[in-house]
Amino acid sequence: MAKFSLPANSKVTEGERYTAPSGAKDIKVFKVYRWDPDSGRNPRLDAYEVDMGSCGPMVLDALIKIKNEVDSTLTFRRSCREGICGSCAMNIDGQNTLACTKAVEDVKGEVRVYPLPSMPVVKDLVPDLTHFYAQYASIKPWIRTQTPAPPDRERLQSKEDRAELDGLYECILCACCSTSCPSYWWNPDRYLGPAVLLQAYRWIADSRDEATGERLDDLEDPFKLYRCHTIMNCTSVCPKGLNPAKAIAEIKKLMIERR
Ligand code: SF4
Ligand code: SF4
Ligand code: FES
Repeated sequence: MAKFSLPANSKVTEGERYTAPSGAKDIKVFKVYRWDPDSGRNPRLDAYEVDMGSCGPMVLDALIKIKNEVDSTLTFRRSCREGICGSCAMNIDGQNTLACTKAVEDVKGEVRVYPLPSMPVVKDLVPDLTHFYAQYASIKPWIRTQTPAPPDRERLQSKEDRAELDGLYECILCACCSTSCPSYWWNPDRYLGPAVLLQAYRWIADSRDEATGERLDDLEDPFKLYRCHTIMNCTSVCPKGLNPAKAIAEIKKLMIERR
């Protein structure tokens, strides 16, 4: 899988080092980005020695152990701890992924943990996703219809129509893909990015939706859609194994077909 460098931030300095309890035999070092905007200080990398003999196998397990037993000020998001909610997305060992499904043993040496790149940071590992969610809302992520619903049942799909949503509906909006996309780094205000474009295609591909023309009209814009240059970082990092680059290509194909 592709790895990428975080934008250089020369102001990140080495911070505290927390040693493992005596007697720990299987020590792994976690270097974790720490920044508290209220402190007025620059970001730092704190080092935590974790005894993996008394810790679960995933990076999220280690972060929870650190928070519970060593440093309660460490701040991160998590909820489901099984790759469903998307809230524990962060940059681990140079790659955006979910902390709850990233095995510690898959990281050689120190485990470096940063917030998702290119987003403003609220605190420590928590990015501000306000703009990302506003972009998601802009594509109107719900079924839009003109014809009245059947009086006696739901709007049905054939098995084949339903299958068109495979590879799309599984997106958990973790933002790993968008925040690994160089085009999104450079134009976050105007380019929608791979996650939101995959979601846009999810509704375009839905046989029950009757707003395809409007949806394509909304995306027909030099920045919203066409900043994708098929670099493929998005597809290589998606922790759900989805292919946002392909969804973007499908939208571009539909744009050409309707000309
Ligand atoms: S496409 Fe994958 S990486 Fe992107 S938001 Fe959805 S689940 Fe996350
Ligand atoms: S394929 Fe497109 S959306 Fe995906 S990383 Fe590359 S430029 Fe970004
Ligand atoms: S905690 Fe929900 S995806 Fe990781």
